[in-house]
Amino acid sequence: MVNNYELELLYEGKAKKVYKYNNYKLLIEFKDDVTAFNGLKKNNIINKGKINKQISSHFFELLNKKGINTHFVRDYDDKSFIAKWTNLIPLEVIVRNYAAGSFCKRYGVKKGYKFEFPLVEFSLKNDELGDPMITSEAILLLKLTSEEILNEIISISKKVNEILSRYLAEVGIILVDFKLEFGLSKEDNQLLLIDEISPDTCRFWDAHTMESFDKDVYREDKGDLITAYTEILGRLKI
Ligand code: TMP
Ligand code: ASP
Repeated sequence: MVNNYELELLYEGKAKKVYKYNNYKLLIEFKDDVTAFNGLKKNNIINKGKINKQISSHFFELLNKKGINTHFVRDYDDKSFIAKWTNLIPLEVIVRNYAAGSFCKRYGVKKGYKFEFPLVEFSLKNDELGDPMITSEAILLLKLTSEEILNEIISISKKVNEILSRYLAEVGIILVDFKLEFGLSKEDNQLLLIDEISPDTCRFWDAHTMESFDKDVYREDKGDLITAYTEILGRLKI
């Protein structure tokens, strides 16, 4: 065990490292690495990990207070937190309030088109396949999860959207879209919201100028990532 934490490294992803903290808990470390387009574009940006950890902890604490069950337990240090260990459900849940990103590409819709209701979409979490979109029926056929849990995932995702959209609107930010992941607690099988909620996994636009304060700044080379992410820290008074 040759890492700083002297804990067993269970998994290293593109933006995070996951260590075993104890039998029921993990330590999640946020890396400074940033990638886009399924890892095709890759950089290391000093302080990105710390900022994303702070924003993620802040949102998870807010959601826990509002009665959403998340994996977040407590902060550990400036770039890591302790989380409940779950068996991950291999889905990425995308919630969209406005057209952006792959939705625009797929359907030829203009960026910024406001939806009449939030759209919930799913991708299969599989890097090799490039996280392909998947329908609810295919999710059930492939037994990725049960119908009961899938319905719960949809309902929780919509609630998270309402809580975060309202919260961000108060500081002049539009929550355009975001990605969520879920798992079942190893300790008691409870469905938990897991992973991170950060400018890497959400689109945040200034309500007046429509300026991006999220990973699109990096994806589209339209400015400094740290400046954009720090704007979110400032607005949230973290
Ligand atoms: P998309 O428009 O590229 O499908 O992205 C929708 C939202 O999901 C956006 O806020 C970014 C987030 N996202 C991730 O967090 N991870 C991913 O791998 C992808 C494709 C999107
Ligand atoms: N798919 C993620 C994104 O661009 C990250 C990556 O693919 O490397 O948002």
